[in-house]
Amino acid sequence: MIDRDQHVVLVGMMGVGKTTVARVLSERLSRPLLDSDTIIEARTKRTVREIFATDGEPAFRTLETDVLREALASPSPSIIAAAGGVVLSATNRDLLKTSGARVVWLCADPATLVERVRGGGHRPLLDKDPAGTLQRMFTERESLYREVADAIVLVDNRSVSEVVEAVLR
Ligand code: S3P
Repeated sequence: MIDRDQHVVLVGMMGVGKTTVARVLSERLSRPLLDSDTIIEARTKRTVREIFATDGEPAFRTLETDVLREALASPSPSIIAAAGGVVLSATNRDLLKTSGARVVWLCADPATLVERVRGGGHRPLLDKDPAGTLQRMFTERESLYREVADAIVLVDNRSVSEVVEAVLR
């Protein structure tokens, strides 16, 4: 169950549907939606892709930590869509584990994700060999998502509304 004063944080791989599910949850629960990539882009007035290209991934990861910290400190219980790489940093994992938020890992088979990440967009890490990269990332990150998760929701073969209901349960 989600407490009334508890943030809900969605974590998981690129393409798993965090932003979409978070949007529906935010409407269903009448809570603000905080999407880490969107906040970074609004704040820097640059796209994620531009930040990666100009400043490099480490600079992006620093911004990501700042935004996650602020989102978790937000006074109104929110739905937080945390970008896929948020679990890479031990600092971020500690923030997630100690914040009192409900952290839900949306988990899919990497093969499912390949179909959903076509088109580049804000995912420069997938420009080359998306299938192989997703598989490798999943192997690297699986234990990290598990480490921070209070609950795991499998999304393969489930519609958005089925995933939303599972998160609420
Ligand atoms: C990343 C995930 C992306 C974006 C960036 C890096 C990652 O966000 O932050 O391309 O390392 O998993 P989404 O998870 O919202 O796609």
